[in-house]
Amino acid sequence: MSKVFEPNREYAKQARIKNMCEYKELRLQSEEDYIGFWDKLAKEKVEWFEPYHTVLDESGAPFYKWFVGGKLNVTHQCIGRHLKTRKNKAALIWEGEDGSRRIITYLLLYYRVNRMANLLKNKFGIKKGDRVILYMPMIPEAMFAMLACAKIGAIHSVVFGGFSAEALRDRIIDSEAKLVITADGAFRRGTPYLLKPMVDKALEQEGCEFCNQVLVVRRNFEHIDIVEGRDFIYNDLIVHESQHCEPEVMDSEDPLFLLYTSGSTGKPKGVQHNSAGYIMWAQYTMEHVFNVTENDTFWCTADVGWITGHSYIVYGPLAMGATTVMYEGVPQYPNMGRWWNMIEELRVNQFYTAPTAIRLLHKTGADEPSKYDLSSLKVLGTVGEPIDPDAWHWYHQEIGGGRCPIIDTWWQTETGGHMIAPLPGATPIKPGSATFPLPGIMAEITDEEGNIMPAGEKGLLCIVKPWPSMIRNIWGDPDRFVSSYFSQCKKDGKPVYFSGDGAMYDDDGYIIITGRTDDVINVSGHRMGTAEIEAAVVHHEQIAEAAVVGCPDPIKGETVFVYAVVNDGVKSDELKVSLNKLLVKEIGPIAKADHVLIVPGLPKTRSGKVMRRLLRNIAKKEPITQDISTLEEPEIIDTIQELYNKQMKS
Ligand code: WT7
Repeated sequence: MSKVFEPNREYAKQARIKNMCEYKELRLQSEEDYIGFWDKLAKEKVEWFEPYHTVLDESGAPFYKWFVGGKLNVTHQCIGRHLKTRKNKAALIWEGEDGSRRIITYLLLYYRVNRMANLLKNKFGIKKGDRVILYMPMIPEAMFAMLACAKIGAIHSVVFGGFSAEALRDRIIDSEAKLVITADGAFRRGTPYLLKPMVDKALEQEGCEFCNQVLVVRRNFEHIDIVEGRDFIYNDLIVHESQHCEPEVMDSEDPLFLLYTSGSTGKPKGVQHNSAGYIMWAQYTMEHVFNVTENDTFWCTADVGWITGHSYIVYGPLAMGATTVMYEGVPQYPNMGRWWNMIEELRVNQFYTAPTAIRLLHKTGADEPSKYDLSSLKVLGTVGEPIDPDAWHWYHQEIGGGRCPIIDTWWQTETGGHMIAPLPGATPIKPGSATFPLPGIMAEITDEEGNIMPAGEKGLLCIVKPWPSMIRNIWGDPDRFVSSYFSQCKKDGKPVYFSGDGAMYDDDGYIIITGRTDDVINVSGHRMGTAEIEAAVVHHEQIAEAAVVGCPDPIKGETVFVYAVVNDGVKSDELKVSLNKLLVKEIGPIAKADHVLIVPGLPKTRSGKVMRRLLRNIAKKEPITQDISTLEEPEIIDTIQELYNKQMKS
């Protein structure tokens, strides 16, 4: 069994939850009086315009409603209410890749957001409930735009800047967005790159005609084409807008945002989060999981295009009144010490990143951290995938000086905020385990009937009671919402939320996440459906049929592995190049395949279903234990295995 790391006693004194007794007491409270537990939190944490009348309405389960009848505006929680006490405090410290900095105080953030909110209303006619797509680099205006939407009750949907024009188009169409907010581009690895041309390409395509307004923020001032009457420059317009704007009065259950994420089948789904429950949990987890205090500087390295950026760059830190850091560029620029240099200069107190980044910086710059003073750090977080022992120990020793707890947070786009994580002042930590569910979160590892799995046996990771920041719906597809999350697992005969992840308890009840149980893969912490990649792969004119699986990788966690049945005469090297071009075009650079294996056929059942599990076994170098006699052509497995061995040798 791995060593247990006890919390630092001195540090624990300032933590909100100071020991395991306090944690257990809270858990007990939530178990004994679930409604009372959440009621107390919602009253304490949220500054309501009008109180709610019902904590939880289960009548439409699994379409749960929280804090029903309550009125609020998330931007009041994140900005407005702080003006009395901290108007001159830095809300955001932004650092450009070139080293330039912008420090935005709460008062200035308030004005920026108001101006942008007014611009959205006055110039683009955006009203409560309208969808706005944000396709932005990591610049302060991405944050302003999210909050401006929230201020007027519009629903933002941020699309990660690394997605292609095709992926952007799909999200514009699915959300029926009225406006796209973008930038000319930004800087990456020291050079300017462009985003706006992708928007042009997306909007030119069939089905996108209804979306005829684009707001462009000038960041790198590179040349871009401007479509007269459709495209407007933010920098020119914003100065004419008033810096005062009344917040729209929102119901607790009015949608705040959509965020598209991959599922095991079909197109990405628009995960819908609503106002009150989401913001309360973003704030609570900032306070308890990172133990952020009044004077702390918190840095989450995610992109705002992912849920981690939403909850822990924008909404959580601001709701708490903390200072949040946003960095434009890559960790390797101008050298491998960039992040550590930023931590030193900004005296960052809590740092939150992904195992894939830790592995990269460990493998390529192990000695870099020792060149910097990292003594300001108090808590280190990770998210997105399990963290392996090597990366854990390096992070703990070299970044955290052996002093900072490593907070391994398990959660998902759908959960809105952390679900399973240690508490920095309380939980004894075991590397590789996200430890225990947070107070109020009824996460269990069960079989399909809800029976708890014994220690050491893999089961399904379920959350057996609704929680305030849970996904409310899949945009425009309530049936898919039910079938994706509430059809696999039950507890006491009632459908419960299934995460799609497998997990296991160790002998001490610690939770160890074992990975997805479905056809979703995790490349550098980015979640992708193999079905989605397959749909793109088969557009390749030389590929007749293909199957995509995940394959272990020392830096990325998993990589994309494509088995392709091709037309005669196709060479594997050339195929890989042209296939990756196609994947970048249809999805984005994150979907690139590291391995392409040309095979004569795919293993199929007699009914024609591709047995991906066998292909996964081969790619992961696992033994095949499944009975293959039911295959249409069982010999194909040996053939594929041989081809695989040959390719791996060469
Ligand atoms: C999937 C969710 C939540 C923000 C980042 C990704 C995997 C997430 C952990 C962790 C092991 C993890 C799961 C999950 N995952 N955190 N600490 N340990 N696996 O959000 O894109 O919605 O992906 O990421 O498989 O289901 P996402």
